[in-house]
Amino acid sequence: MLKANQNYLRLQGSYLFSTIAKKVAAYKEANPDRTVISLGIGDVTQPLSPAIIKSLHEAVDDMAVKETFKGYAPDLGYAFLRRAIAEQDYRSRGCDIAEDEIFVSDGAKSDSGNIQEIFADSCRIAVCDPVYPVYVDSNVMAGRTGTYDSGSEQWSNVIYMPCTADNDFVPAFPNETPDIIYICSPNNPTGTAMKKDDLQKWVDYANDHGSVIIYDAAYEAYISEEGVPHSVYECGGARSCAIEIHSFSKNAGFTGVRLGYTVVPKELKDADGVGLHGLWARRHGTKFNGAPYIQQRAGAAVYTPEGQEEVRQLVSYYMENAGTVKEALKEQGYTVYGGVNAPYIWLKTPDGMKSWDFFDMLLEKANVVGTPGSGFGPSGEGYFRLTAFGSHENTAEAVRRIKEL
Ligand code: MLT
Repeated sequence: MLKANQNYLRLQGSYLFSTIAKKVAAYKEANPDRTVISLGIGDVTQPLSPAIIKSLHEAVDDMAVKETFKGYAPDLGYAFLRRAIAEQDYRSRGCDIAEDEIFVSDGAKSDSGNIQEIFADSCRIAVCDPVYPVYVDSNVMAGRTGTYDSGSEQWSNVIYMPCTADNDFVPAFPNETPDIIYICSPNNPTGTAMKKDDLQKWVDYANDHGSVIIYDAAYEAYISEEGVPHSVYECGGARSCAIEIHSFSKNAGFTGVRLGYTVVPKELKDADGVGLHGLWARRHGTKFNGAPYIQQRAGAAVYTPEGQEEVRQLVSYYMENAGTVKEALKEQGYTVYGGVNAPYIWLKTPDGMKSWDFFDMLLEKANVVGTPGSGFGPSGEGYFRLTAFGSHENTAEAVRRIKEL
């Protein structure tokens, strides 16, 4: 008898950003005269930079010539890209990561959703709360999260680690021992970042407890402060307890191009000594035919001197927006966090408003879209996220409208 995967039926509603997109589409349809500005989903708005465009064109030209045409890409990624990543994202920072520990993919979202497949169903996950919804949803799909309690808005088998202003958005060690710990730093959604000392404590904890850290470094290019690590492998002992996921979306604007990578060190083993590197390679080989050559050439352009300079300019363009939003909100009396090492501003809703009520109010009165904090988890209630990924013009206009509320 055909039966759908029952785990999927446990998912709560649609994916957060799909829910928001539907609401915004309905609002626009009902109010065609209004100009809605989105500071909601963390999608970039600035065009790809010249070094990347040049590389894309060259790669397309390669595909037109018999001698340089490429078919299937190597499933773990082209050597030219893995070499550049190993050298510039790791070895230049003193991190000991080899090229064959890097798995190139079609993006950090896929990797952060798929990585749980190499762990047993019985593994217990711990997440920061609020949390990027992919971590929890992908474990719900895998049947690893237990039952949902709509009162507490928590899954019975997930360890939630509240990250609020009270703990400077750094999670405390949980009472129960998790097998898999998701950490995103700089953090989506709070826009805050862990200091190296704090991350080192988590690495030590994971090694002491036999846990693995899945470290999402999608926003590392936005780090501006000293003492904030760009990679978990800057911490001693991380090779035996951490997997790291990277994106090209936020630094180089690849949200529509699609490229990312995951690092699984060879030392990383489960309690029986099974190497996770081999399992992820096996998974990649079976379920993935490699990120396209054209995208990987674009990715390699990011590591050229021109590409690096252009990425710096893009990051500072968006961080200028972060400053604009943050300062304006502060002037209006809002309590705001983030926006220093990440392109997200995390604000406390005024007068204790519920996150979704604030969302509706902002959409209807200012025609500005943000993301309700409660959509990221129970500890996000009473908070709201604005992104810095808009254009300067739209960001300034959104801020002007918010001031007028
Ligand atoms: C977000 O807005 O949280 C991100 O854009 C989602 C993502 O990168 O998948």
